[in-house]
Formats: sequence, structure tokens, C-alpha cells
Amino acid sequence: MKTIIRDATLDDLSFLVGQFDEGVSGGHFAGQPGVPTARIWHEWLRKRLMVRKCFRPDGSFIVEQVRIATSIAEVDGKPVGLLLSSPETPADTSAIEIYMLSVLKSVRRQGVASALIRVEEHRHVAGTTFYARCYPKSTWAIGFLQKHGYRVERISPDSGMHYLRKP
Ligand SMILES: CC(C)(COP(=O)(O)OP(=O)(O)OC[C@H]1O[C@@H](n2cnc3c(N)ncnc32)[C@H](O)[C@@H]1OP(=O)(O)O)[C@@H](O)C(=O)NCCC(=O)NCCS
Repeated sequence: MKTIIRDATLDDLSFLVGQFDEGVSGGHFAGQPGVPTARIWHEWLRKRLMVRKCFRPDGSFIVEQVRIATSIAEVDGKPVGLLLSSPETPADTSAIEIYMLSVLKSVRRQGVASALIRVEEHRHVAGTTFYARCYPKSTWAIGFLQKHGYRVERISPDSGMHYLRKP
């Protein structure tokens, strides 16, 4: 299977919406209730920015804007996988978060996510660290990341969220 990795465009909208909605219903991603998924992706692709809430240990939070990059894995001219990354903290590219990763069910376990993460890691300078958060339901993703050298740094006792880092 020849997999091409490229930047996402607005032509990928329906694929991205489908994967996102499936991931939300499977408990792998956080949804944004009340906001249509197509609108979320349209804005992410157009602005290449995401607005996110960043919580402090005391429960207070700040809202920040962060740059994002979305890669598509394509097989036979069709999108089959996506990887969205962003700096772990804005304006600091020394640590990159693998924010979202998803592969079409019909082509899973054939190396598509591996190709996406390999290309993503090589896009950044040597010495960059990589970070990911996985919900407890995402056991395949946790195993996948561990296979690619990520270690579980912490598991939230409240939510079961797994925090992984490489190296
Ligand atoms: C996790 C996911 C992205 C992996 O994509 P993929 O293209 O199938 O992954 P690859 O083929 O590149 O890698 C396979 C490795 O991933 C892990 N893995 C993937 N599917 C697995 C499964 N069904 N059971 C156990 N391990 C699995 C294993 O480590 C596997 O290695 P192995 O085949 O040598 O055992 C895909 O299953 C997916 O989209 N899941 C739903 C969304 C999700 O969980 N996203 C991550 C949120 S943090």
C-alpha cells in the first residue's frame, strides 16, 4: 500500500468531519457540543489556529491561541488518515503535541498512522520533544505511541487521561 503524506486542504473537509465525529463518539476525542464539526474544521483549516483552554492545577484556566498543522495520509488519491499537531505551548516549538490522530477503519493496522507520525516527527528539528494525551478508551493509540518510543509520563487519577512523551 503506497501512502502519501501531505498537508490537509478544504477538499478534505468531509473526511475530517467523518473521522472527528467517529472519534468523538468512540471516546477518543473531545467534541464541542453545539458547534457543527464542519464549522470547527473549516476554521482550523482556514486559520491554521486553534483556540484552547489550558487548565492550571488549581482548576483555573486560560484561553490561548495556538498554531496547528494537519497532515493527511492518502492512498490511491483518497484520504485515509489524519494527524493534527500543535506546539505544546504557543510560541515554543521545542515541544510538539500530537493532538489528534485517526485512521479510516478499513485500512487500520497497515502502517498508516506510523507513516503519519514518522513524517510529523521528521518535520521538526533534532531535539524536539513530542507529547500526546489519550483518553482511557484509546488503548490502541496508547499501544501505538509506546511502540513509537513514547512513554506514559502520568495517568490522571480523575479522568484516566494518559499523558505520553518522547523522549
Ligand atoms: C490508533 C490508530 C490511529 C492506529 O492507526 P493504524 O494505522 O492502525 O496504526 P499502525 O498500523 O501504523 O500501527 C499499528 C500499531 O498500533 C497499535 N494498534 C493499532 N491497532 C491496534 C489494535 N486493534 N489492537 C492492538 N494494538 C493496536 C499496535 O501497537 C500496532 O502495532 P502491531 O500491529 O505491531 O501490534 C487507529 O487505531 C485509530 O484511528 N483509532 C481511533 C482513533 C484514536 O484512538 N485516536 C487516537 C486518540 S489519542
